[in-house]
Amino acid sequence: MSYERKNISDLQAYVPGEQPQTGTVIKLNTNEHPDLPHQAVIDALRQFDPELLRRYPSPTAMPFRKLAAQTHGVTTEQIIATNGGDELLRLLLTVFSEPNGKGIGVSDPTYSLYEVLAAIHDTPVTRIARMEDWSLPGDFAKQLNDAGVTLAFIVNPHAPTGRLESVDTLREIASQFNGVLVIDEAYTNFAEHDCLELVREGSGLDNVILLRSLSKGYSLAGLRFGYGIASTPALIQAMDKARDSYNTDAVSQALACAALGACKDVAGSWKKIISERNRMTEELTLRNWIVLPSQTNFILAQAPGGIDDAVRIYQTLKEKGIFVRYFNHPRLLDKLRITIGTPSQNNMLIGALDNMN
Ligand SMILES: Cc1ncc(COP(=O)(O)O)c(C=O)c1O
Repeated sequence: MSYERKNISDLQAYVPGEQPQTGTVIKLNTNEHPDLPHQAVIDALRQFDPELLRRYPSPTAMPFRKLAAQTHGVTTEQIIATNGGDELLRLLLTVFSEPNGKGIGVSDPTYSLYEVLAAIHDTPVTRIARMEDWSLPGDFAKQLNDAGVTLAFIVNPHAPTGRLESVDTLREIASQFNGVLVIDEAYTNFAEHDCLELVREGSGLDNVILLRSLSKGYSLAGLRFGYGIASTPALIQAMDKARDSYNTDAVSQALACAALGACKDVAGSWKKIISERNRMTEELTLRNWIVLPSQTNFILAQAPGGIDDAVRIYQTLKEKGIFVRYFNHPRLLDKLRITIGTPSQNNMLIGALDNMN
């Protein structure tokens, strides 16, 4: 006898990248930052007052929201803090998409969790294929409107390709779309620009929410802290009603404040990753891989010998303890997504590739 809802029994659960728990592997498969968190975060963890564990934390993570508002040039009422960016995604579906309604819209391929969350919510997904060069089609908003979706997600810079759309492109989509547009900026720290101007005062938009995560840029994937920045407080108020009362805990709030407070310093580590990303692009290109220009902390690289080569290399690397990501998506079968690691990890990957041929 099974007791769950039909859509849950039919559900193909989200498959996270492999998370081997031994320290000996080189993990270039889930886009984690290769360095330790900033010293300010480590100090905040050491100095954390246990008395704060006895009490409930700030229900809305107010100190963090104030800091984020100051940092990004918006108001506190435009910020919501969540248990990782993933919790924000779940909240967005709960609040802005009718179960059994017209569903959500995404550009395809995209972060696969969106589809899983939609299936949990029992709502369909309209997939709009990216163009040959991975850009968004010119009639993206029209396609969303024609499908009647009320919520759409664009990852920018895009995962898994690393491509960055211009602010003007996204502004146009937001102004034409008859629903809430989520611009998922999980990787924005490694990009030339972000979309903050679309949520700042004067943007004229009432339907944009940016997703931010401390997992990638701040080396805090284990902390589980993300946040949303909305173009109007009304969007945040709606999500606040549906949020767990204490969705972020006292430890994560304290560490998130320490991390964002050190953002100017942490930016140095983003520059190092960008420079390694450029080096790895050159190294792989020299070896006949086709590497898409990336604005993230990973690259999507097409194996010289096509699909069979990509599968073989993925498996051989894994046997050698080097994990990269392979996607079972029709347009990605001949490609590997490789997170940028430390210079020595990157060199080990290149060395392993050279030893394979
Ligand atoms: C595109 C995208 N959005 C959001 C997230 C969520 O990140 P987190 O829940 O770790 O903040 C991820 C994580 O991999 C991602 O790749």
